[in-house]
Formats: sequence, C-alpha cells, structure tokens
Amino acid sequence: MTNVSTPLQPIQTGLLKSIRYIKRSYNNPLKHGQDLRREYGDVVMQKAGKMRVVHLFGADAHSLCLLNRDKTFSNKKAWDMIIGRIFPNGLMLRDGDDHRYHRRLMQAGFKSKAMHGYLGQMIPQIRDEIASWPAQGTMMAYPTLKKLTLDLAATIFLGMDLGDDSRAINTAFETTVAASMPRIPFAIPGTLLWRGIKARQTMCNFFLPMIAQRRAGEGNDLFSLLCKAEDEEGRGYTDQEIVDHMIFLMMAAHDTTTSTLTSITYALARNPEWQERIAAELDVLDMQNPTTETMNGTIEKRLGYQRGLADVPAPFHFAKNEQPRIRIWRLSNSRGRIGHHLSDSYALHEGILGQSV
Ligand code: HEM
Repeated sequence: MTNVSTPLQPIQTGLLKSIRYIKRSYNNPLKHGQDLRREYGDVVMQKAGKMRVVHLFGADAHSLCLLNRDKTFSNKKAWDMIIGRIFPNGLMLRDGDDHRYHRRLMQAGFKSKAMHGYLGQMIPQIRDEIASWPAQGTMMAYPTLKKLTLDLAATIFLGMDLGDDSRAINTAFETTVAASMPRIPFAIPGTLLWRGIKARQTMCNFFLPMIAQRRAGEGNDLFSLLCKAEDEEGRGYTDQEIVDHMIFLMMAAHDTTTSTLTSITYALARNPEWQERIAAELDVLDMQNPTTETMNGTIEKRLGYQRGLADVPAPFHFAKNEQPRIRIWRLSNSRGRIGHHLSDSYALHEGILGQSV
C-alpha cells in the first residue's frame, strides 16, 4: 500500500468527469477500480456530497480493514448506509459485543450436526433438479442456478415446500435483493427502493406468524434452529430479530452462491480441459455419499469454487466506516471489482485448475 504520511485529500474531478466515474462504477466496476488505482494509486479518496469515500487497493488494505484489530472500522455504519433499509440488523450490520452475541446464538444453525442434516437433504434435491436439466441444447446457467438455490433455501432454511406462497415469497425475496443497491436511493412510490421496502414487509409478514410454532416444534431447518437458539443464560432472539436474521441470511446465502456457481460454470465452459480434470478427481472420491468433510476439502479448495470466486467474486465490496469520522472505506474486491485481479497481491492456492488468475 502507498505510504500515506500526509493527510489524504479528495481527488479533484470536474462535474463531467464525476458523472463519467459514477456511470463507469455501475457499468464496468472492474475497469473503474483498475483505472482509479492506475491513475491515483492504492489509496484514493473521493468526495460524494458531505461524505468522503476512500478506496483501498491491495493486500495490506484488506488485512487492515478485515482484521480490524483496533476496532477502527464499523461494519454497521457502512452497511447501514448501503443496505440498511432493506436488511436492517442482519449479522453483517452489527459491531462489537452486539455482533458477538448475535453471532454466537446463530451458531446453533451452523453446528456440524445441523450441517450434516442440511447436506443430507440437499443432495437428493440437487440430483433430482439436475436430472430435469436438458441433456442437449442451450440452458441459461444463472436463472437455472438461481431457481435451484432458492428451492434449496426453502428446504434448508425454512424446512418447507413453499407451495402456494412460493411465487409471492420468491418475488418478494428477489425484489429485496435487487433493491439492496438501488441506483435511485429514494423510497418514492414506484422506485426500486420503495418496492424493496414493501417486499421486505411481505417477508416479515410471512415469517412472524410462524415463530411461536417453530419455537415449540422439533424442526431442524435453519429457521427453527434460530427460533430455539439460546445462550447459557437462556436468552434467545426476539421475534423481530429472528425475522431480520432470516431475511439477511437468505440474501447472504442465495445471491452469493448463485453468482459463484455461475462463474464456475462459465470458467468450466471456457476451459473444457478443466472439466476433464474435475471428472477425474471426482472418480477417486465417493461422491455418491459426500460428507461435509468431502465437500469442504474437495469442492471448495480443489474443484473450482476458489477459481470461480477469484475470477468473478460474488460480494460487491467490503464496506467499512472509519469511526467516528464519516467515511466509507471500500475494499474493492469484486464482481468485476478489483481484489483478486491484483495479481501482484494474490495468488490462488495450488489447485487442480492452476494458479494464475
Ligand atoms: C460463495 C458464497 C459466499 C460468498 C462469496 C460470501 C461472502 C461473504 C463476505 C465477503 C462476507 C463479509 C462481508 C463484510 O464483512 O463486509 C460475508 C458475510 C456473511 N455471510 Fe457470506 N458468502 C457466501 C455464502 C454465504 C452463505 C451460504 C451464508 C449462510 C448460509 C452466508 C452468510 C453470511 C453471514 C451471516 C455474513 C455476516 C457474518 C458476520 O458479520 O459475522 N454467506 N459473506
């Protein structure tokens, strides 16, 4: 990272250049990040109204902000500004002791027994779905994978077949995700943000009435486990906290996984020899009955998950707010953002798909 010994000053851009930057950051975020870095270096401050946004590039920046050793940065303040109206109080929008408390309770849904249970339900569902895909012809990866991950979310997260509610809930859910980063940041009737806030209400109305029954029941889906989660003193989540966590978790899990699987599919389609290597790798493993260990050790590290994430990482950027001053730090990382494209900073683990990005 550049040595910053003098106070950082916002870059000077005229009106036309500012408009061009805004357009470019939406239309081609990777190029936007790369150009900013090339032109101004690893630390770039921009003024946006009263706010100062600082872009940080490179491995040092990532470790500074993500490790956050001296608690300089706030997740809550930054993410509240970005997705706070649609996903308030999600785990990622919390800091310090509050974050720790909520995260500990949430562990109930991610213990290894729960994970084994989810996997056992997912495998047959995924097999059935894949069997229904056409063997020939064209199939669009993104919408197909999106449907698959949404159906899986209904089973694993909610423990139910959504039945007649399926369409309404799927639409509400998709609207909340689409509205999380609107181009027009005002909730005026008709705007995406306005529709997102209404869709969020639909999801709240869907989850809230089920909580009492889930608390009393024996379900092992994520929703039931969060309803029953308790700390050592017997404290659990309030009804509204459960709803807030569920809505955030569905977004955090669904959008990222769909995007990652799509980039893997794309990478494999472009590199048929990788498909052969993966097929050979799978032959030596018992993929008829995969365990969570097989999945962790093999799928993630070796079979392209990393590759897909590196080429087109799913999350947008890491937003952090420096306390107490009003600044957003953007650690550019993603979909097109620059993080893993910084070949001077990152190399992939040795894997069967090779190292270079
Ligand atoms: C390929 C898939 C995924 C990717 C690339 C991904 C990426 C990320 C990233 C980068 C963050 C941190 C953002 C920040 O702090 O600024 C995050 C947070 C989080 N993700 Fe994921 N995620 C994925 C899948 C999932 C899934 C499947 C779930 C849930 C089942 C999930 C739940 C969460 C939660 C709860 C947080 C907040 C954690 C905390 O603040 O302690 N994610 N994810």
